[in-house]
Amino acid sequence: GSGDHYTFIVLGASGDLAKKKIYPTLWSIYQQDKFPPNTAIVGFARSKMNQKQLIEKVEPFLKVTEEQKATAMKFYGINSYVAGEGYGDLSSYKLLDDEILKHEKGANGHRVFYLALPPSVFKEVTLAIKASCWSRTGYNRVIVEKPFGHDLESSDALSKHLGSLFTEQEIYRIDHYLGKEMVQNLMILRFANQIFTPIWNRNNIASVMITFKEPFGTMGRGGYFDDFGIIRDIMQNHLLQIFCLVAMEKPPTKHANHIRDEKVKVLECTKTLGIEDVVIGQYLANPDGKTEDSKTGYLEDATIKNKNSNTPTYACAALRINNERWDGVPFFLKCGKALNERKMEVRVQFRDVPGDIFEGKLKRNELVIRVQPNEAVYCKMMSKEPGISFEPHETELDLTYHVKYKDVKLPDAYERLILDVFEGNQLNFVRADELREAWRVFTPLLHAIEAKGVKPFTYTYGDRGLKEADDFVASFGHMYTGTYSWAKPAHH
Ligand code: BG6
Repeated sequence: GSGDHYTFIVLGASGDLAKKKIYPTLWSIYQQDKFPPNTAIVGFARSKMNQKQLIEKVEPFLKVTEEQKATAMKFYGINSYVAGEGYGDLSSYKLLDDEILKHEKGANGHRVFYLALPPSVFKEVTLAIKASCWSRTGYNRVIVEKPFGHDLESSDALSKHLGSLFTEQEIYRIDHYLGKEMVQNLMILRFANQIFTPIWNRNNIASVMITFKEPFGTMGRGGYFDDFGIIRDIMQNHLLQIFCLVAMEKPPTKHANHIRDEKVKVLECTKTLGIEDVVIGQYLANPDGKTEDSKTGYLEDATIKNKNSNTPTYACAALRINNERWDGVPFFLKCGKALNERKMEVRVQFRDVPGDIFEGKLKRNELVIRVQPNEAVYCKMMSKEPGISFEPHETELDLTYHVKYKDVKLPDAYERLILDVFEGNQLNFVRADELREAWRVFTPLLHAIEAKGVKPFTYTYGDRGLKEADDFVASFGHMYTGTYSWAKPAHH
């Protein structure tokens, strides 16, 4: 109602995440006029600066065009900044609360806190906002970013801490992959199509492969990365979330908690991983590389202190689900940095056609959901070779988004997720019990890699992948013939 006021509070407003991701997202939401009426944004950090200096800092990342200048000025007008003495200093949070109250002008005050902060200050900040900045007249919601701990034990400790301050309804754990168009599409594809639903099981599906590739290395972020590695950075969160959406049972309704209940259940059926279930790799410099990054091997990154580090930058794991639907079907999770391309896709490989009458010429059907770049759903299938022939040949049914939905602009993941928070929709956020199961699956593996000093295989910056990983997935019967190439459809 008109008696409502909303404040989005960015804690860590002067940091990297805030200026590269959060402020540009807020600006985009503002331009589309999607904030609830009476919304203000308050930044908070230790840097001594004022509102004007904050704007100067984030402005280069907003990409304001000439025509947008007037709107940008209005956007700056809803922004303010409070400089704190330190993240543990309670009086600073009093100042922050005063600033918020000033905007609220006695209306019902709804507050969204965004924690763009390093884990080291997480505890004191959450304690302080609860003690000094909690709205008494409206809702309070707290958005948190990974890392959610380092393993099962540390994650449990963090969850316990958050749970002692906030209700689960107040906590929004971001996994930004859940904000992507094609990830959100998985549930519709699966549960809204009678051509897929009945065949989605071990009788028809031979394997599922979920792949993430990035064409760059640590790019100076090695200090952070070396403590985490690709399994924590990508696999345990982004890939596992997608895994859940592909493998879970149909929820009773599409309500957030019904869906999250199913994600938890399928994780509970998933076997804990050991070292024998994965192939890990680490990239070496490419002497012929064209960029500085590609000429720098992982261990040569200046921000990595341990020059014997065995932290994986590539990993391929085979997950097993012990339930009626999936028993015996491997789910491969593959991810790597410093590879040949940027790509994220889900590949469902079907079983061979029984009783072949085509002399072994058939290739397996695959349903591919390409998350990025260039969103698409396509189904590899056999069809009659056109013309005077009665031979099967491999082609596809293709739904390429930029062809089919020409003028649709897909919103950025963060944009959708932040709007979900204002709406109180937790569907695309990770619940505490889900997080716990995710760590349960990966923790023994992570500890084994670290404790036993397992040596990763090496690959060269820019490679397609690892030979060892190809052999690994082939050993489960996964078929890769390399004969198929997806032709980019022409624009019309
Ligand atoms: C982040 C990881 O969560 O996801 C990064 O920490 C990675 O290492 C990024 O680069 C990839 O996200 P996107 O949306 O660019 O695919």
